[in-house]
Amino acid sequence: MTSQRTNLSISTFCLYCTLFAFSPAFALPPEHKPLKPRVPIQHRAYYRSLQAPMYQDSKNVSSELLEAGASIYQRICVNCHGESGKGNGISSGFLPILPRDFTNCLFQHKRTDGELFYVIKFGSWPMPPMVPTITEDEAWTVIPYLRTFCKK
Ligand code: HEC
Repeated sequence: MTSQRTNLSISTFCLYCTLFAFSPAFALPPEHKPLKPRVPIQHRAYYRSLQAPMYQDSKNVSSELLEAGASIYQRICVNCHGESGKGNGISSGFLPILPRDFTNCLFQHKRTDGELFYVIKFGSWPMPPMVPTITEDEAWTVIPYLRTFCKK
């Protein structure tokens, strides 16, 4: 009798476990409005036109620069933004909103390099500022690599 009851409570417990595992508590948080500008309005015009010191066009850079960008990405950004740039890095589930999905070409086409630089430098909650963990030059260097995640 006792053991039957124990069995019953174990199976009830497991049922709850299963329900919980599939509940929204385990679902990743959503990405927050990826197309909405992140640079505050008073700085937007300035950062939209800000250019990298080491390249003109972030989609057309040397392979050395791309490799340097990839290694910065792998060292720091990958934890949140993920190997494939989809915003699903190992730490992403712990954040209240998801990191940007860099494979989203609508997002990529909307942002200038200067706008990306602003967020890398100053952060955008819950992303922390990355400078001075990386230098400003490194912030510019990682941008062409971010651009490679959009295949169009
Ligand atoms: C602690 C996790 C974390 C790390 C580490 C991180 N990011 Fe982010 N990042 C985020 C989150 C979360 C967002 C979304 C913020 C938002 O929606 O405003 C984001 C957004 C961005 C954006 C989008 C900006 C825009 O205009 O919408 C860029 C670009 C970016 N990150 C670049 C980087 C780069 C480059 C690195 C590495 C140097 C990096 N991030 C490291 C969490 C992170």
